[in-house]
Amino acid sequence: MNYSTGPFPNDFLWAAGTSAYQCEGAHLTHGKTISVVEKNINSEYADPSVASGHYQYWDIDVELMKELGLKAYRFSISWPRILPNGRGEINPEGIQFYKNIIKKLKKYEIEPIVTIYHFDLPQCLQEEYGGWSSRKVISDFENYCQVLFDHFGDDVKYWITINEQSNMFQIPYLMEFDANIPLEKQKFEMNHIMTLAHAKAIHRCRETVPDAKIGPALGIIPNYPASPKPEDILAAKKADDLRTFLFTDLYLKGEYKTTVWNFLVENGIEPNIYEGDMACIKSAKPDFLGVNYYQTRVVKFIPKDADEKDLKLNFDGEDDDTQYEAIPGLFEGQKNPYTDKTDWDWEIDPVGLRYLLNEINDRYDIPIIITENGIGTVDELTENGEIHDDEKITFLRDHLNQLSLAINDGVEVWGFVVWSFIDLLSTSSGFRKRYGLVYIDRTDFDTRSLKRIKKKSFNWYQNVILTDGKSLQNTN
Ligand code: BG6
Repeated sequence: MNYSTGPFPNDFLWAAGTSAYQCEGAHLTHGKTISVVEKNINSEYADPSVASGHYQYWDIDVELMKELGLKAYRFSISWPRILPNGRGEINPEGIQFYKNIIKKLKKYEIEPIVTIYHFDLPQCLQEEYGGWSSRKVISDFENYCQVLFDHFGDDVKYWITINEQSNMFQIPYLMEFDANIPLEKQKFEMNHIMTLAHAKAIHRCRETVPDAKIGPALGIIPNYPASPKPEDILAAKKADDLRTFLFTDLYLKGEYKTTVWNFLVENGIEPNIYEGDMACIKSAKPDFLGVNYYQTRVVKFIPKDADEKDLKLNFDGEDDDTQYEAIPGLFEGQKNPYTDKTDWDWEIDPVGLRYLLNEINDRYDIPIIITENGIGTVDELTENGEIHDDEKITFLRDHLNQLSLAINDGVEVWGFVVWSFIDLLSTSSGFRKRYGLVYIDRTDFDTRSLKRIKKKSFNWYQNVILTDGKSLQNTN
């Protein structure tokens, strides 16, 4: 890679991102069928039928990307828009929709980074065989990937296989589970199946688009020990093993981490591994690791016999993120007294990004792209029709500064995706929580004009891109 004299490489991909179900709308029209996440997301406030109106206004959105000066745009393709029955007949309108976007991106020299799977399994496959709980999904996913590589492979050279496999099983509305099978057993079985699907996607990509780069995007929350107590230090390590390194070891080494495997076996929740599975996973070497980074977490040790009443297993996926995960015998999350919090109580920790990147680099020595980083805020339109989202600017500035320090530490990072380009349906909180550089004129309950309005952060990021990050040293 070519290094400039500045903090970021010359060919650094300054990007922003979205995902299909969060921004497109038109969720049951133009040949598309419903996905699992669209069916299960809290419909009280999160209505995917219109979302940000991107299906209708994609052209305006790409013009704004050009104005912003984006070098790359990360977006996801909706599986049920391409294959309304999950497999078989291809929806030509779906293909055309993404072809139009890609063509215009290329015209403006904006590199498309395409996520193959961002939470949206076709609901029909869930009903037919239980979705990710069945090995049948592997060949359907493989076939879906092949359709994408065949139709878009000439123009798309960066592919993300699966978004946040690490979080997928923790958030109830992203997956459907069978009430008759112990939940944790199902999760790790599904995780194994999804890892195989990811591996197959890489193999297909190598065969069909050999000049493309492909890798997964993980949502990673690094764990800090609550105190220097040795038990707490070990608890943080175990939390990282279970919630992060299980996935990175599978993707990047093709192995189950021993500490995690032991934990699974001890609890009778290990997945079934068939002959050939691990060879398939191991031989699917990603070109990079995508990292979605929002926050860190503090954990302390809790004994096995801790009072179950006090324990909260997993995120509840709703607004109240102050509910911390706790696994008796391993760890329990708690608030960090040293960091600021977002309006949704997420820890704001830019230094944690540098820490994480160094940690990954030391373990795996693989090129990294930050596939998501940003902050959800309550943005208000002023009387003059402006949005002064200073909190977002500060958040992004601080994280980008830490990123440049990580690069200086020797970590190879080749791109940064602001989450998100336009306001979109927050997975947990609808339109109250806004991530975008561009405001969408709508609320949870009123779709209003869907007008696109550049926020203050848009102009700020434009300058960051223009100066290749050198403006970061200055003020807002
Ligand atoms: C990531 C997802 O988990 O976090 C995005 O990949 C999501 O789809 C983002 O929008 C922020 O989470 P939330 O719940 O605030 O939308």
